[in-house]
Amino acid sequence: MRSQKLVGATSGRQESKDRCPYLSVEVIGTAKLSPTEPLLNHRSTIVSQYKSTKGFDQMINTKILKIIGNKEEDEKNIERAAQELRQGGLVAFPTETVYGLGGNGLDPLVVDKIYKAKGRPSDNPMILHISDIKDLAPLVLNIPPIAEKLINKFWPGPLTLIFKKSSIVPERVTGGLDTVAIRMPAHIIANKLIKKAGLPIAAPSANISGKPSPTKGEHVIKDMMGRVEIILEDKQSNIGLESTVLDITPPTPIILRPGAITYRDLKEILGKVDIDRSIMEGKSQNLAPKSPGMKYTHYAPNAPMTIVQGTRWKVIEKINEMAAEYIAQGRHVGILVTQENIEYYTRGTIMCAGSRDKPDTIAINLFDLLRQFDEENVDIIFAEGIEGEGIEMAIKNRMNKAAGHRIICV
Ligand code: TXA
Ligand code: MG
Repeated sequence: MRSQKLVGATSGRQESKDRCPYLSVEVIGTAKLSPTEPLLNHRSTIVSQYKSTKGFDQMINTKILKIIGNKEEDEKNIERAAQELRQGGLVAFPTETVYGLGGNGLDPLVVDKIYKAKGRPSDNPMILHISDIKDLAPLVLNIPPIAEKLINKFWPGPLTLIFKKSSIVPERVTGGLDTVAIRMPAHIIANKLIKKAGLPIAAPSANISGKPSPTKGEHVIKDMMGRVEIILEDKQSNIGLESTVLDITPPTPIILRPGAITYRDLKEILGKVDIDRSIMEGKSQNLAPKSPGMKYTHYAPNAPMTIVQGTRWKVIEKINEMAAEYIAQGRHVGILVTQENIEYYTRGTIMCAGSRDKPDTIAINLFDLLRQFDEENVDIIFAEGIEGEGIEMAIKNRMNKAAGHRIICV
């Protein structure tokens, strides 16, 4: 027996013209697991990873300060958060990419607190965030001419550059590397906060390690309550994926993480730019990642996710076929699709990521939807693959990682 329910936008969700509501079909039936599908094993591993990092021992009294659009109030809250940063506290704050979990990037003890709050492996280095170009020179050995070109074009914005580090940058923040990642966010609140703090701010994404990066205040609150002194809560991040990471220390700069500043954008300025091969290929390829963060599980929803990639109708057919098979076993199936194809899916909890014509919309929604699948308690997720040369590359990279590189080509 099946019952169908239409789930509209929940309260508090930011509405946008490009976001389509999602359809949920509740399945009632007997749970039968196919012996070939390691669903339960997967889930218990993910959940136990999550729980073990959740066992954070010294809970802090977290203050949530909301940015409400009232200049005086907002300035007061940003000042309060900046003061916390100066005193060695941790502040989660909005940026145009994703929310960051910030602390004094020059103090190894504070950096330790960040690793602990996130449950992050300590060999995974952090980005130092600055608010002004003049703050760059003290942190790096030199600023090569190509860095100047890139900075003129893309800063402030979603581009992180890797430089040789200066001696004032603690090894704790770079995970022992002699290079340092620097970014100057364009987000006005982030910029003011860093300026007022008067420090380079180490800020990984403000999620529990391994979970999707937070793009909304509610995601940060869910992951970081009790772990940071202050959460500065603003609207949804308007890019939704983390910054492009570009290593400019080799003779040909190399993209270590794709983002909103695309391969094409960088090629236009640099002429030649490489892409680290491990970005799109799985761990099984035995490629040593140049960015330590790339070797860890990322963005994983609780349920195992499989990406189906290929021609349009074959993808739709394959996802419907697999969904039907699992639904017949009584499993709760989540399906992540694009606006252009949504009408061809009828069964499962169907979420619309956005439009293929406007891939920015997919970038904005992706991490939120991965978290929504957790809320919906789905057992398994099937997702349409996304291809393209712009921000699609970043979307594909994050989806492949969320799926643990489980990809079916049809
Ligand atoms: O958009 C963003 O970049 C967000 C916001 C908060 O600014 N931050 C963010 O930080 O995504 P995080 O720590 O989640 O990711 C930083 C990435 C990791 O993959 C890390 O391995 C890499 O940058 N990274 C940092 N320093 C590096 C270095 N010296 N060499 C190579 N990769 C580095
Ligand atoms: Mg992260």
